[in-house]
Amino acid sequence: MTITLEPTSTFMPTNSDLVAPTLESTPTAGDALLGNYKRAPGHFVSGQGVYLTDADGKRYLDFVSGIAVNALGYGDEGLRAAMHAAADGLIHISNLYASQAGERLAASLVEKSFASKVFFCNSGAEANEGAFKFARRWARTRGEVKHEIIALRGAFHGRLFGTLAATDRPSYRIPFRPLAGGIGIVERDIDDLAVALNPETVAAVILEPIQGEGGVRVLDPGFVREVRALTKERDVALIFDEIQCGLGRTGTLFAYEQFGAVPDILTLAKPLAGGLPMGAILMTEEIAATIKPGDHGTTFGGGPFMASVANHVMERVSDPRFLRHVADNGAWFGKQLNDLAMRTGRIRAVRGLGYMWGFDVMGTAAHVVSEAFQAGLLTCTAGEYTVRLLPPLVATRDELALGLGILEEIL
Ligand SMILES: Cc1ncc(COP(=O)(O)O)c(C=O)c1O
Repeated sequence: MTITLEPTSTFMPTNSDLVAPTLESTPTAGDALLGNYKRAPGHFVSGQGVYLTDADGKRYLDFVSGIAVNALGYGDEGLRAAMHAAADGLIHISNLYASQAGERLAASLVEKSFASKVFFCNSGAEANEGAFKFARRWARTRGEVKHEIIALRGAFHGRLFGTLAATDRPSYRIPFRPLAGGIGIVERDIDDLAVALNPETVAAVILEPIQGEGGVRVLDPGFVREVRALTKERDVALIFDEIQCGLGRTGTLFAYEQFGAVPDILTLAKPLAGGLPMGAILMTEEIAATIKPGDHGTTFGGGPFMASVANHVMERVSDPRFLRHVADNGAWFGKQLNDLAMRTGRIRAVRGLGYMWGFDVMGTAAHVVSEAFQAGLLTCTAGEYTVRLLPPLVATRDELALGLGILEEIL
């Protein structure tokens, strides 16, 4: 395996920094990248199905899927054909002009959801930032000071200024204060929310039906329904962030279908365009009616290339047989994971739905992720003690079982 060199220790300028780099002093390509990620060693060079292969030819079973992006796995024929067809057409035209593929994608999302309008953007954080703006725009038609956004304990909604303020991770927030104002975090408790939701000042509540980064916490459907009832009663918009748990990952196209509560706004991203950067904001007619030309925009959102690939992904992940496969295998996987916890005695809790699972370990999750990596299984963390499993949605039961076998060995 190719090992990227660790960046050199603290940078101490010396005279040699003033001369042109020689062959010996030229930094490796990896050194030129900002050090904001703690990456695993080596380089992946190819992928097929649910496997990635590194530069030394070692194969890894992938239970990360590019963090819930690669729903169709690697080397998928249909996705490849959709990308080739998209590349033969228009790539970008700007939102000054209509994109047929974007219109088709929006129509499909509307047809399959509660929404009546869709806005396209480029990432999850951008989708949530847009959702905050749309919620505030709507709220301002109800009252001049109605503007606050409330997120829940354990939430992760992104790393931009607005979304970071709605993300409950002190280590992500503290170095960047002051964050955007008018955004707060409240406990996952209906009584606390009842106190916080002042109808005069609060515009929206945002929640992930399954908190991903916050430890794969499936919110109690009863609680979600209570939040829906409370937000309706207080005239507060409800935003569901389904960036990680949406588009088939839980075994239904949208996670909210399993919670018995329908939001006013829903955000999507990760798997939407098969690995290309794309986000979407779905909303009711009532919210959409308050948005006027010029209120919001983005250069690339919903462009023809991205949207035509996303149309292919939508067709695939909304197929009822595909969703059945995720729901059935996901339920089986959860049972196996619980059995594994009983057998090994090394797991403190198991949580999840569909192809989105987390388990709490005795030591640190990073330790397990690193051992799994050595053993050829890709996993990731969700907080300090939770190992998160996000297999590609195309993974078969046998492939899921293989991953469980590796986990059992290392636990
Ligand atoms: C639930 C949720 N919301 C928002 C985001 C942010 O998405 P992005 O990284 O595309 O900005 C993520 C990313 O992990 C997420 O899981």
